[in-house]
Amino acid sequence: MQKRILSGIQPSGKLHIGNYFGAIKQHIALQDQGEGFYFIANYHALTTVQDAELLRNLTLDVAIDYLALGLSPEKATLFRQSDVPEVTELAWLLATVTGMGLLERAHSYKDKIAKGIAAKVGLFTYPVLMAADILIYQSDLVPVGADQVQHIEMTQDMAGYFNTTFGKEVFKRPEAKLNSTAKVPGLDGQKMSKSYNNTIEIFAEGNALKKVIMGIVTDSTPVEAPKDPDNSIIFQLYTLFADEKEKEEMREKFLAGGYGYGEAKKTLLKQIDDYFAPARSKRKELAKDRAYVEEILQKGAIKAREEASKTLKAARKACGID
Ligand code: ADP
Ligand code: TRP
Repeated sequence: MQKRILSGIQPSGKLHIGNYFGAIKQHIALQDQGEGFYFIANYHALTTVQDAELLRNLTLDVAIDYLALGLSPEKATLFRQSDVPEVTELAWLLATVTGMGLLERAHSYKDKIAKGIAAKVGLFTYPVLMAADILIYQSDLVPVGADQVQHIEMTQDMAGYFNTTFGKEVFKRPEAKLNSTAKVPGLDGQKMSKSYNNTIEIFAEGNALKKVIMGIVTDSTPVEAPKDPDNSIIFQLYTLFADEKEKEEMREKFLAGGYGYGEAKKTLLKQIDDYFAPARSKRKELAKDRAYVEEILQKGAIKAREEASKTLKAARKACGID
């Protein structure tokens, strides 16, 4: 039987190249290797985006982005998290078997609080909803970036607590699938993240893209001096887009000296611009036909809901709520 591959992405802002290399690229590649279920995690995004119109628009934008970047509705199921409200019920069932201690250890929660996001109950129980997302579809593999691995481990724990407490193997144990791009640096060298305001958006173009690339933080090494490519954000970003030969060429220019950061930025800009050009034009087409995108999401939701209701039924039965 084909493996079920599931992942979600929050519509909490415009998608950036960290999201692309850390998650989306892998999601799209995996649609040929298993049964892909991909959803737009708008319930999760509500922990940070609390503006109805904005959330609505960002949610549809993420769907358009995925389709433009190559997700095929014939191969994978794309849907909105909230179109399967069964997950919220399952999250409640899981919450009743999950210890506070498990959630208190969540790095992601602690990081968000440290960044100044308000400590709401929904933010704290975010991993329980995420576990419900994964378990309700009986997922085998969950492709995510390194920062989400702990959430998958928590999901495995919650599946175990539930199965043991009620003596029924209701949930399958999912595995995280980590991709090879560890951490894409942002314009300032920190992890690229919507919440750090240091992103390069996938669909930025023209002057806006140029302005962003030219704004990458560099040190004050003079043009003539040799530079360390491995310490340069420009070079690190370039390696994501360039082939081996191009990488080697830029590396040598850095080491030789006489190569300014401005010039390196121009090369990076062209590479990014060319890389996403086909997706950009596809996105423009899709954006004109929102009804078509909505139809894909609706069809996806019907399929996802069918799966979800089977698992929820089994979970309810196991714990005596039926
Ligand atoms: P953000 O930090 O911008 O809010 P999310 O937390 O919504 O991004 O992450 C969505 C997906 O993209 C996750 O799987 C995450 O691991 C991946 N991701 C986000 N930022 C990066 C990055 N800088 N490098 C690699 N992967 C990333
Ligand atoms: N928490 C994930 C992130 O920030 C998004 C997400 C929600 C998710 N539910 C999920 C990822 C289920 C994988 C599986 O990236």
